[in-house]
Amino acid sequence: MKKPQQKKTPLPFVLVNMAMTADGKIATANRRIHSFGSKSDLEHLYQLRATADAVMCGARTVEISRSILGTGGEKFRRRRLKLGLAEYNLRVVVSGSGSINPHSEIFKKHFSPVIILTTGRASRTKLRRLRAVADEVRVCGEREINFTAALRWLRAKWGVRRLLCEGGGELNDALFRAGLVDELHLTICPKIFGGRDAPTIADGNDDRRLSAADRFRCKSFQRVDDEVFIVLTRRI
Ligand SMILES: NC(=O)c1ccc[n+]([C@@H]2O[C@H](COP(=O)([O-])OP(=O)(O)OC[C@H]3O[C@@H](n4cnc5c(N)ncnc54)[C@H](OP(=O)(O)O)[C@@H]3O)[C@@H](O)[C@H]2O)c1
Repeated sequence: MKKPQQKKTPLPFVLVNMAMTADGKIATANRRIHSFGSKSDLEHLYQLRATADAVMCGARTVEISRSILGTGGEKFRRRRLKLGLAEYNLRVVVSGSGSINPHSEIFKKHFSPVIILTTGRASRTKLRRLRAVADEVRVCGEREINFTAALRWLRAKWGVRRLLCEGGGELNDALFRAGLVDELHLTICPKIFGGRDAPTIADGNDDRRLSAADRFRCKSFQRVDDEVFIVLTRRI
């Protein structure tokens, strides 16, 4: 007799939000200058956070920006509650080797759970240290994170229906490669950083062909002063 098929937990809707220069960079080559958008861009970031159950970032972004991935204030928390979301977004940090510093700012503020996604590459010592500061540390693969499984788990265990990824380039690239990005929000800022080694919105090692490129449609664009806000949705 055939086994009854178990229904898989659906994936969350995944948004990526990034600011980039006119030459497509998300930071300078030394990665020190990472915040270069206007007040409108920051407002846009908090508005998007206010629609998401969880905000996710790569370990390097969390450390360099010292971000705590907060809501942005009471105005945005009220908006969340109106939308039927929890008052504070969950916070997800991706750290495949468990290199994220347990003394990072994000672990010092306890307004919402912090979840770490990692792999079997993280040593026992690192896992133990991270488990002491995070609300959950999830091993999602032996060498590489299986993002499809990780995102299903986030939805099943933590109720994440809308997940906002805020970079950096390495993390975004893994999500693009896995075909998991539903919507891309880009702010184009009127600056040029140059620099061959400056990160872009999707920095991976693989050499994709045109036929394997992720394809998006332009859903909307808006100019605010000298910046352009673009929303792209995945072509199905
Ligand atoms: N302009 C913007 O909107 C914007 C937004 C975000 C960030 N940034 C800038 O971008 C730069 C950081 O980007 P980045 O690409 O260098 O780093 P990142 O993606 O933020 O972080 C890289 C680290 O995160 C973990 N990670 C990322 N993807 C992973 C994967 N697929 N599997 C396992 N672990 C993964 C790894 O941690 P382990 O080392 O522990 O394995 C890796 O070393 C910073 O300068 C930041 O300020 C700019």
